[in-house]
Amino acid sequence: MPALIVGNWKMNGLGEDIAEIAHMAGSGARSVWIAPPFTLIDRAVIVSAGAVKIGGQDCHANAKGAHTGCVSALMLADLGAGFVIVGHSERRRDNGESDADVRAKATAGRAAELEVILCIGETRAQRNAGQTEAVLTAQLAGSLPDDAEGLIIAYEPVWAIGTGLTPTLDDVKAAHAHIRGQIVARFGPNGHGVRILYGGSVTPANAADLLRVADVGGVLVGGASLTAESLLAIASSAP
Ligand code: 13P
Repeated sequence: MPALIVGNWKMNGLGEDIAEIAHMAGSGARSVWIAPPFTLIDRAVIVSAGAVKIGGQDCHANAKGAHTGCVSALMLADLGAGFVIVGHSERRRDNGESDADVRAKATAGRAAELEVILCIGETRAQRNAGQTEAVLTAQLAGSLPDDAEGLIIAYEPVWAIGTGLTPTLDDVKAAHAHIRGQIVARFGPNGHGVRILYGGSVTPANAADLLRVADVGGVLVGGASLTAESLLAIASSAP
């Protein structure tokens, strides 16, 4: 399975930045996915012409209804998106999303036939208190959808996001092994097929090392995904 390189553009990107996605699509790189802001999804799907899978950074748990300003998974699929990120720590922080909310969004994403990238991760205080595994266990217990099909987990330590800090490779390995154990306990043998991404301050300089860690099936990249040059450098460092 080639490593999956996913770019999360967060609240970045105007029309002119579509050129970066066109460049990524034209590069021939395999397994590069981008989640631009909602406003660019339509154009991104067109310029990527299937070469880069385009997705949403969030979705509502309902398919439609009176929810001003929200976007449903069905609407993303209707635009040609192929995946949706749910449970990102910035949504948990800024929008107060609970594990139950994340589970409802993951379920909605699967109902719309999107692949779902479900994010989990501990804060600095939780890591310092030795609670990392307990936090990951609780987040998975509360947020996993009913089956493993179409599911990807992203391990993103909150303290590593946008800080330039990353866990040691041993800590990444331990966290991914713990997540794998939880997923297999929950889904049985199907849990072995769930890809686990690492996210948090991934750059062209550290991607090769991170991608060589056992059970790191790819990376979820924020800041270093905003230009084709940087994201393609990460993609080309995959072993
Ligand atoms: P950075 O790569 O900017 O640390 O962001 C990681 C992230 O949150 C991806 O979802």
